[in-house]
Amino acid sequence: MILVTGGAGFIGANFVLDWLAHNDEGIVNVDKLGYAANRQSLATLDGDPRHVFVHGDIADRVLVSALLHEYRPRAVIHLAAESHVDRSIDDPSPFIDNNIVGTFALLESVRAYWQGLPVDQQAAFRWLQVSTDEVYGSLDAGAPAFTEAHRCEPNSPYAASKAAADHLVRAWHHTYGLPALTTRCSNNYGPCQFPEKFIPLLILNALSGKPLPVYGDGLQVRDWLYVGDHCRAIRMVLEAGEVGATYNVGGCDEKTNLAVVEAVCVLLDELLPRAGGGSYREQIEHVADRPGHDRRYAIDAGLLCDRLGWAPQVSFDSGLRKTVEWYLTNPVWVSQATSGAYANWVARQYGSGG
Ligand code: NAD
Ligand code: TYD
Repeated sequence: MILVTGGAGFIGANFVLDWLAHNDEGIVNVDKLGYAANRQSLATLDGDPRHVFVHGDIADRVLVSALLHEYRPRAVIHLAAESHVDRSIDDPSPFIDNNIVGTFALLESVRAYWQGLPVDQQAAFRWLQVSTDEVYGSLDAGAPAFTEAHRCEPNSPYAASKAAADHLVRAWHHTYGLPALTTRCSNNYGPCQFPEKFIPLLILNALSGKPLPVYGDGLQVRDWLYVGDHCRAIRMVLEAGEVGATYNVGGCDEKTNLAVVEAVCVLLDELLPRAGGGSYREQIEHVADRPGHDRRYAIDAGLLCDRLGWAPQVSFDSGLRKTVEWYLTNPVWVSQATSGAYANWVARQYGSGG
């Protein structure tokens, strides 16, 4: 078995599905079912004995220790986190609690289990820390993309909490010998992403006739990575990555936010033209910028490509089309994600017209 944390979230659910599509090794999936989780993302696994879902918190050491001893996983893929920058600006506390203190608690539970394993199983064990390019900070236009050697210069509370978690993992490897690896990926997009994030927010706002909010001048740059490419990278790093190493994962697809919103509008104009005519572009609105907004992220994934033979397979154009089509054809998932407290967040962040 492997143990996955945060497997009811966006990347976690995609990873669980991708993993079980490629091999029969089972997964214990621990998720506290926070606001961004959606059990519907894993509905196709109902009744599949390879997937054990556990509703729980990674900080619950009694629960996690019991799971480790019952299922005896050979690896932990740690994805559970609070993940939205704007929420971390609004209220950093859950980011400190879940991303730093939660990771610490999980490390301690795993360390105790791992130290009790026979020596050969200790050596074969892996902790894979799923991190972000945001720990590196922001790049000027034209500066070389982040390599793994770039120092950590996190700028948002979210990025700082992820950098802190990465440092804990590094220390548990260095001090205790826990066989850990870290991946740092760029902005993921694809099916099952909670609609507070830019691309699904644009799709769903467009369809419901709401403004498409672009922060500031919209010339901030992100590198976009299709989630399926990221899941394959995680599998490859787990399989063949060098213990102690960090691997950047990027889509090699840098885009300004304005280019992203334009691409979403062009696709929607083709796939579901507006009832009243005109383009979805008419809904674009520039709104106040995010405080401390990082200007540019760009990732050099050369190490992963050269050492492990990974390369992104899905271009931004084809990945975005798949993503838009997925949101158009999954209304049950969408209505679950947008019900409940989501409306409160949208009202607080964008005002009542958002
Ligand atoms: P998400 O917010 O969609 O999902 C996170 C999941 O973690 C949720 O299901 C939530 O319930 C769960 N969770 C949070 N705290 C928990 C806790 N204490 N115990 C158990 N479960 C908990 O996030 P995502 O976009 O899927 O991101 C997954 C990971 O990838 C995160 O670590 C994030 O930092 C990292 N990452 C994401 C992106 C991106 O573009 N989405 C980019 C780089 C890195
Ligand atoms: P986001 O999906 O929140 O990811 P991150 O902040 O981790 O990169 O945002 C992606 C980009 O889109 C980022 O530059 C902020 C911008 N953005 C907007 O312009 N408007 C929005 O409403 C949101 C949510 C994001």
